[in-house]
Amino acid sequence: MQVKEVKEELIYIEKVKKINENKKLKYYILTMGCQLNENDSEKIAGMLEEMNYEKTLDMQDADLVLFNTCCVRENAEERLFGKIGEVKKLKEENGTIIAIGGCMMQEEHITKKIKQSYPYVDIIFGTHTLNKLPQDLYEALDENKKVRDIINIDGQIIEGLPISRDDKIKASVTIMNGCNNFCSYCIVPYVRGRERSRRPQDIIDEVIGLSKNGYKEIMLLGQNVNSYLVSQKAKGEDVNFKVIVNDKEMIVNSFATLLIALDEIEGIERIRFISPHPKDFTNDVIDAIKNSKHICKQIHLPLQSGSTRVLKEMNRKYTKEEYIKLAEKIKNKIPEIVFSTDIIVGFPGETEEDFEDTLDVVQKVNFEQVFMFIYSRRVGTVADKMENQIPEEVKHKRFDRLKELVENQMKVQNENYVGKEVQILVEGKSKNNDKMLTGRTESNKVVNFEGTDDLIGKIINVKIISEHQWYLKGSIIK
Ligand code: SAH
Ligand code: SF4
Ligand code: F3S
Repeated sequence: MQVKEVKEELIYIEKVKKINENKKLKYYILTMGCQLNENDSEKIAGMLEEMNYEKTLDMQDADLVLFNTCCVRENAEERLFGKIGEVKKLKEENGTIIAIGGCMMQEEHITKKIKQSYPYVDIIFGTHTLNKLPQDLYEALDENKKVRDIINIDGQIIEGLPISRDDKIKASVTIMNGCNNFCSYCIVPYVRGRERSRRPQDIIDEVIGLSKNGYKEIMLLGQNVNSYLVSQKAKGEDVNFKVIVNDKEMIVNSFATLLIALDEIEGIERIRFISPHPKDFTNDVIDAIKNSKHICKQIHLPLQSGSTRVLKEMNRKYTKEEYIKLAEKIKNKIPEIVFSTDIIVGFPGETEEDFEDTLDVVQKVNFEQVFMFIYSRRVGTVADKMENQIPEEVKHKRFDRLKELVENQMKVQNENYVGKEVQILVEGKSKNNDKMLTGRTESNKVVNFEGTDDLIGKIINVKIISEHQWYLKGSIIK
């Protein structure tokens, strides 16, 4: 297995720490991508804090500005170029160090553009070599050396990097990196490399550590979590890992057995995961969820399209009927289950009929949450080369129709919550009103309610009293 413990990284961390001693330096990170990207930002923050930088939320005030980029859709890219323009002044006036990392930096046409058009950027680093940041920073500070070339390798799993987490109740735990699926629209396999899984005991130890630090909910992350350990198995490696949880010996050799082991960890009340791929959703995973104490009865099951023809063009490897059957099978085994999904509208060649198939699946499965995306062409992907691209106007009209259907369904679902008693994990103060607390149901609905701060981090019962489209209002059951 390609696992590496940090070592020379720690030497560079020490070197930078020394240079920065007593300087009261600050860092600012802007995270532009998905939860994996956020989890990487937490590791970057962990390293920076070890190197004597303190976090600031004000970019103007920072000695080091870092953008952690995403390239899954075009608007994410445009945002970065706006931001790099913005920091030029900071660089000129204060000598601020500018670092850019993340998925976009694994794209050669982008790094070329940055080197040519934005020569004042100090450091660029990719997703595969996040651990090299201390070295890059040392070289930028000590030798005034500019950006290095990004190594385009699949990278190793690095264990032992420091981490500074954003939340005290919920934590993300990456269980695998990369993707082997090559859905035809998607850039992720090109920028995150091939699948590689962390060792089960490393994941378990991280979660035990989180539990000891008071965390109550964990979100397992990976591009295709239910192919955990699958590529190692395919290579002929022995993947029967003996692990110890609560002094009990267990075997972990798949995603399902990992879930079963994590379910045993005391103190973790809720376990979620994103994203599973419908084609790999095996019965053992369904049973693991059904029989577990802590795995939420809520599954994110990315649909992408409801048309069998489009799904084939997307290289998703399931049909409309197979998807619906899978959702039904899960629902039959676990009646309280709720689903959320991702959908792309306007994939090349999508006809009115194809789009109606998507609407049909949405009607039938009745998702509680739908993340909707307008298809965005990505350089280097198969779909980008397809000739039958859909006009922007048609894409937008379809998007609006899907949105309307989803919002109507949500309204009915929300109304069904009113009057019900639900268990929520209290996450903290409400963002918009600090007299209110906020939490989530197991089904991932946001519930705001009046309560005292001592409830934060606890699971409590509330009665839902009203619905407000994006959240529910509840009152504590005494
Ligand atoms: N690995 C995850 C998703 C990663 S990207 C999965 O397979 O579900 C998150 C979502 O972004 C995808 O589910 C997809 O709906 C969307 N997406 C990916 N590429 C896209 C593109 N080129 N245009 C629009 N949406 C895209
Ligand atoms: Fe992209 Fe498909 Fe891999 Fe998800 S499974 S990251 S959509 S290629
Ligand atoms: Fe995530 Fe965007 Fe990269 S969605 S994996 S940060 S391309």
